[in-house]
Amino acid sequence: MRGVVFDGKQVQVVDDLEVRDPGPGEVLVAIAAAGLCHSDLSVLDGTIPFPPPVVLGHEGAGVVEAVGPGVTHVVAGDHVALSTLANCGACADCDRGRPTMCRKAIGMPGQPFSRDGQPLFQFASNSSFAERTVVKAVQAVKIPRDIPLTSAALMGCGVLTGVGAVLNRAKVGRGDTVVVIGTGGIGLNVLQGARIAGALTIVAVDTNPEKEAVARQFGATHFLASADGVREILPTGADHVFECVGHTGLVRTAIDLLDRHGQAVLLGMTAPKAEVSFLPAAMFLDKSILGCRYGSSRPQKDIALYAELYRSGGLLLDELVTRTYPVEDFARAAADAERGKVARGVLTF
Ligand SMILES: NC(=O)c1ccc[n+]([C@@H]2O[C@H](COP(=O)([O-])OP(=O)(O)OC[C@H]3O[C@@H](n4cnc5c(N)ncnc54)[C@H](O)[C@@H]3O)[C@@H](O)[C@H]2O)c1
Ligand SMILES: [Zn+2]
Ligand SMILES: [Zn+2]
Repeated sequence: MRGVVFDGKQVQVVDDLEVRDPGPGEVLVAIAAAGLCHSDLSVLDGTIPFPPPVVLGHEGAGVVEAVGPGVTHVVAGDHVALSTLANCGACADCDRGRPTMCRKAIGMPGQPFSRDGQPLFQFASNSSFAERTVVKAVQAVKIPRDIPLTSAALMGCGVLTGVGAVLNRAKVGRGDTVVVIGTGGIGLNVLQGARIAGALTIVAVDTNPEKEAVARQFGATHFLASADGVREILPTGADHVFECVGHTGLVRTAIDLLDRHGQAVLLGMTAPKAEVSFLPAAMFLDKSILGCRYGSSRPQKDIALYAELYRSGGLLLDELVTRTYPVEDFARAAADAERGKVARGVLTF
């Protein structure tokens, strides 16, 4: 079968990939569509270290092809969106509603794929850039059939991360002020999360002026090409500033833009050893810096909510998909994402 493989040096679309059958508690999914998130590109340049060879992709949707023993919540033929959280469901963190903190769900990549007898790692417990993948039951979230799979593909990272960061982590309140730095696939979902939460002033900042129209469509009340202008709109700063690029300089900017009691939410992925300096004295005014993994999501609950919000018109999904590409055109999709030509590019199988 076809898939996008990174061998540690180069990335290529192959057609001789194999995936093992689902074991107990696992689901085999035929991927229909998969979004290209910046985190996939960050594996290629080493910003996100991951052992090669690896099958990329971590945001996808498709149709259940088979289930292993013990799986009862989905059956063959069901439409599913895939999460990246292979959480155990049995530890204290899972039990308290924090599956993103489950220690079994991070840093233990499996190898369900092979090529010519050689095993390949699964990226983010997911590898949605493959015609078929095997995931844990908890990762396969059943979705209504009327959601196009090309749109549902974006639930599994962009929507969970961006909307979840607003609703679950920052807990933005009605009337709050929000700044979103970087309006790619993640930032746009932060914007719509802020709109859903009832934020009043929502300032989008992106160096690419072509992002203005889509940023406003997703909820921005203001758009700036540089964070320098934020104080003209919000003289005392913002209640919540979301860094959605992954630049250390912008992390500092986010902290500097906080109003009293404000919080900076760091969503962008910086290199593991990157450092940022800031003025601790300013934090005295009840300010906080929050990390956020994957929107602090509970995928089975949150994807069901987002599906309903989509159907009632409150959550935009179709509008996130600027372009679809057959998986063979991965290189073009990656180049378009790097150049900021798309909100999200989606690979299809
Ligand atoms: N925390 C998490 O769980 C999580 C999950 C998914 C992705 N991420 C990370 O989020 C970040 C964004 O991912 P994405 O898929 O939205 O990326 P993207 O490439 O789609 O978007 C990045 C945006 O930032 C803009 N930008 C670049 N430099 C800028 C600057 N100096 N000032 C303002 N805007 C600037 C670009 O124009 C683009 O619109 C990445 O670092 C990714 O790895 C984190
Ligand atoms: Zn992602
Ligand atoms: Zn657990």
